[in-house]
Amino acid sequence: MANEILYFELNTGVKIPSVGLGTWQSAPGLVGVGQAVKAAIKNGYRHIDCARFYGNEKEIGLVLKELFDDGVVKREELFITSKLWCTDNSPEDAPLALDKTLEELQLEYVDLYLIHWPVRIKKGSGEFKPENLVATDVSNTWKAMEALHDSGKTRAIGVSNFSVKKLGHLLEIARIPPAVDQVECHPFWQQAKLHEFCKSKGVHLSGYSPLASPGWLKNEFLHHPVLVATAEKLGKTTAQVALRWGLQTGHSVLPKSSNESRIKENFDVLNWSIPDHLLANFSGIEQASYSYSNPV
Ligand code: A2P
Repeated sequence: MANEILYFELNTGVKIPSVGLGTWQSAPGLVGVGQAVKAAIKNGYRHIDCARFYGNEKEIGLVLKELFDDGVVKREELFITSKLWCTDNSPEDAPLALDKTLEELQLEYVDLYLIHWPVRIKKGSGEFKPENLVATDVSNTWKAMEALHDSGKTRAIGVSNFSVKKLGHLLEIARIPPAVDQVECHPFWQQAKLHEFCKSKGVHLSGYSPLASPGWLKNEFLHHPVLVATAEKLGKTTAQVALRWGLQTGHSVLPKSSNESRIKENFDVLNWSIPDHLLANFSGIEQASYSYSNPV
């Protein structure tokens, strides 16, 4: 179908499904994240975005095993992302962290492994408080990531929450260039400059919190007049037009939901499109003065 945007191609040649299920703040315990992953895969999702820091990879692993055993989906049909947490980015700790993720997910490899943030925090301290920060050494962490790629335990490597400056620096020193920069991205935090830079360097931008986290931030973004007018004209929901804007802008989207009908709704964005004259209105949306990934 002409309007389908099922995948984007990474600089490794591998295809990343355009819509993935976000699992941040999906509560550990099978009722939460496990049911969400199961509902997503049964409804056609093939990309699950995980991270060790989310504390729920074990539950996701149990459900993946069940789905493989029941023949619902095969491992090679899925695209699984995970991330290296900021306490583990020394070259000694990075391989142990990926091993733990693989053990919990019950997988032999992930499809994409990302440096979660361009910062390092003291081991044993879970939080981003200033007193927990220690000097980063992205160059050595990246060498460790490259070694993980060489080992076959991850099929691609990349970063998350990297700015133009930090990504540019990494591209200068990398033997294997990052395949992805996963950042917060939605119509109210469009990341236009970073996205242009990524495109010029062959790095795929993947957008987390593509709905601007309505539950968490208690914001009104999904009621914005541009989204409402577009949704009404196309007979879609505002969440769907926000996601479709992302796909048509050229990045993959990772909406999180624990609710089956919203999980379905968020996947129903692949075979229709926002016409150019309506899409143009999105560039006029006033950008948020801050976001939680870029607090002022
Ligand atoms: P829920 O899990 O109850 O569906 P983001 O991915 O931008 O961080 O947003 C996640 C938040 O948005 C969650 O609180 C989720 O709640 C809510 N959400 C997910 N899908 C939709 C949707 N289609 N419409 C409205 N809210 C949604």
